[in-house]
Amino acid sequence: MRKISALILALLMSKVWAQQSTPIPGPKRTPGDLQEVTEEGEFPASDLPAAVQTRNTVRLRRHAWSIFAGLTSQDDNKIKAPIFLTWFTKANLFAEPPSEDKGKFGLEPPKQVVPLSVAPVATLSKVFFNLPAARAIVDGMLNTLQPPGVPSPTQPERVRLNCAFGDTRPEDRHIKDFPAQSVVLKTVWRLVSAGDTKPGELTAIPVWDPESNTPGRGGNNPDLSYGPEQWSRYVAVNTHPDRYKGLAHALVRPKDSRNVQQAPIVPLDRFYYKQIDSGILAEAQRLNRAAKLGDYFVLVGLHVTTKEIPNWFWITFWWHDHPDAGPFAANRPSSVLGPWRNYLMNISYDMEFPEEADGSPHVNFNPYLEGLTPGGLKTNCMTCHRLSTSPGLRPDTTPGTILDSDPRFDHRLKMGFLWSLTDFGGSKDPAYDPKSCPPRQ
Ligand code: HEC
Repeated sequence: MRKISALILALLMSKVWAQQSTPIPGPKRTPGDLQEVTEEGEFPASDLPAAVQTRNTVRLRRHAWSIFAGLTSQDDNKIKAPIFLTWFTKANLFAEPPSEDKGKFGLEPPKQVVPLSVAPVATLSKVFFNLPAARAIVDGMLNTLQPPGVPSPTQPERVRLNCAFGDTRPEDRHIKDFPAQSVVLKTVWRLVSAGDTKPGELTAIPVWDPESNTPGRGGNNPDLSYGPEQWSRYVAVNTHPDRYKGLAHALVRPKDSRNVQQAPIVPLDRFYYKQIDSGILAEAQRLNRAAKLGDYFVLVGLHVTTKEIPNWFWITFWWHDHPDAGPFAANRPSSVLGPWRNYLMNISYDMEFPEEADGSPHVNFNPYLEGLTPGGLKTNCMTCHRLSTSPGLRPDTTPGTILDSDPRFDHRLKMGFLWSLTDFGGSKDPAYDPKSCPPRQ
């Protein structure tokens, strides 16, 4: 008996070992481990479910800031870059064949309700996965969507669930849960020119002041001007510390000419930024024709989700020139350093709660992403991410709880809240076909 259990144990161990040794496509890297760099190693936080249950916002916000301090600290080899830059990208995990970014910065037009891809794209994004999340994707073969007719790796599970649809419980129709250590990020960047010769040529970056921006039906987009609902205020970014000394304001002319205004001048180092070198110049110009050698991409926003609670813990950070004022600045610890102290933060851990002052479902959005899209100012990360399924549904900003039994999920496999695992209602992921089911006994 003991021999048999030893054999089973050995087999189990060999499976674990085999899994650990399967290389994940992409570069050799030292994936920064978030646990080592959060305060007192408090990731994953064991008290998070209790904090959610008691709606202990202070504890949850403190934890979110602690995660931020960890994410933005240097990596294991003391490379002077936030640890997430060593994490896996979509190019590593999803490209056909999976690839290295090859020195590219790997930015793309953000995919939101629809990809924000009108060129030149002012807002760009890049998604990062930590090692446990990347492992779950590779081991679960969740990184390929095949054209109709070709069975996809998720196909067996989908076919099994779809064919047995009426006999399964709605809450069981989902991919295997990611481990609690999983973290996924979506970073948001804007271009800042270094080519100014006078203050009037400084790049204008919009600043989100909720009290002075009227929510627009088509979203509030400072660049495309498709509605009257603009952002009320801008800053002018100074990339040359030796210039414009003693000058507090500069006249900026954002895309919306109605908004010509005296904007406060802020130095570049108030942002986390990346300079455009010859390696990424072509890529940058493809996305934004105005990009030149020596210009900068500045990080204006950062979405984070962690699997510490079953439906993920959703956190968003965005840049502001008065980062110490208001409720979104609250609880920021001294462990958040340097340019990272210029970002505000909001959280969500439920589709409804805590309710807004008017009793409507909890709102959490990033002005530099969801703020640009229709319905974005009333949305909650979870209600939209909840709709990630195979075959795909379209992203939707409608707030409020979506139950497991929602008819939209009929004959669809829930993809664990991650949109990058779906084709957004496209045609790559074939629809349910009853003919693919084995005959019922
Ligand atoms: C209207 C829908 C919508 C809303 C609201 C939304 N997202 Fe997303 N999110 C998306 C889409 C679409 C993607 C793109 C996936 C990709 O790039 O392949 C995405 C990507 C992400 C990613 C990368 C992982 C993934 O799902 O592929 C993270 C992390 C993320 N969002 C966090 C958030 C947070 C935090 C909020 C709330 C503050 C939020 N999102 C609100 C639609 C939404």
